[in-house]
Amino acid sequence: MQKKANVIYCGDCLEGLKRIPEDSVDLIYIDPPFNSNREHRAPGSQSAKRRFKDKFEDINAYLDYMRPRLKEMHRVMKLTGCFYYHCDWHASHYIKVLLDAPDLFGYDNFQNEIVWCYKSGGASPGKRFSRKHDIILFYSKTQAYCFNRLQEKSYNRDHKAYKFKGVKEYCDEEGWYTLVGMKDYWEMNMVGRTSHERLNYPTQKPQELLERIINAGSNEGDIVLDAFCGCGTTLAAAQKLSRKWIGMDISPAACELSAARLQNSFGLKAGREFSVKGLTRSAKGKSEAV
Ligand SMILES: C[S@@+](CC[C@H](N)C(=O)[O-])C[C@H]1O[C@@H](n2cnc3c(N)ncnc32)[C@H](O)[C@@H]1O
Repeated sequence: MQKKANVIYCGDCLEGLKRIPEDSVDLIYIDPPFNSNREHRAPGSQSAKRRFKDKFEDINAYLDYMRPRLKEMHRVMKLTGCFYYHCDWHASHYIKVLLDAPDLFGYDNFQNEIVWCYKSGGASPGKRFSRKHDIILFYSKTQAYCFNRLQEKSYNRDHKAYKFKGVKEYCDEEGWYTLVGMKDYWEMNMVGRTSHERLNYPTQKPQELLERIINAGSNEGDIVLDAFCGCGTTLAAAQKLSRKWIGMDISPAACELSAARLQNSFGLKAGREFSVKGLTRSAKGKSEAV
C-alpha cells in the first residue's frame, strides 16, 4: 500500500477505488458533484477544459450514481478512518440518509454536520435568505476513529478579562478570550477572484478548510484520499501536513492541474515523488483519460 500513495488516478473513481486494498486509507474527503443541475466552468481562456457537469436526471439518479462509489470508499477505509462528504442544500438531506444506511457508515457513526459559512457576491433572488454555506457530513467507520481535538478562540463578553479562578485567558488586539473546543460551524473565506491560491478551477475549495479536516482526522504519515480531487486542494493540504495522499478525478485537465500544483508548491517531481496514472496524450497533444 505504501507504494500506491502519492498518486493521482485519472478516471472514474469507481474504477480507481477498486485498485485500493480494503482497510488501507485513514481519511477520505470528497467534494463530488452536488446535484446542482449546473455545468461548472472556469472563467478565462482555459474554460473549455476546466469544466464539469453536475446534472442528473433526478435525486434518485444522483444517489444511484454515488452509492457504489461510497461503498468502495467505505471498503478501503481503515476501521479507525474518518469520512468527510462536502455537499450543500441540494442533496445534503438525502446524502445523510444514504450514509446512515447500515451497509454504508451507519446512523451511529455519524459524528458532525459541519457548516462552512462564507461570503460571496450576489444575493438570492426572490423570497428567501441568501444561501451562503455548504455542509460537510462527518462519519467514522467505527467508534474507534481518529479525532485530534482542535481549539478556537472564544472572546469574552465586551472582550474584557473575566479573571475566573482556574480559567486560562489570553489577550490579542481584539481583546480577552479563552480557548474552547472547535465548534461545528466554520467561518472561512472561499477562494475568490483575488485569492492568491486561486487556480481558476471551478468549485476550488480553500486549502485552509482541508488543512483543518486533515489535522482533525489524521496524523503525520497517514493516507488521505480524495476521490473527486479537482485541482488538488486536498492533495496539497495533505502534502503540506506530511500525510501521504491519493487523488482521483475523471477530468484530465483537473489531474494535470493537481500535478502542476504539487510540482509548483512543493517541488515534487512527477514520476519520482508522485505518479499520475491513467493520463495519456493524444496525437493532437491533448490530455486524455485512458
Ligand atoms: C466539486 S469538484 C472538486 C473540487 C475540489 N474539491 C477542489 O478544491 O478543486 C468535483 C470534481 O469531481 C470530478 N468528478 C466528477 N465525476 C467523477 C467521477 N466519477 N470520478 C472522479 N472524479 C469525478 C469533476 O471532474 C470535478 O473535478
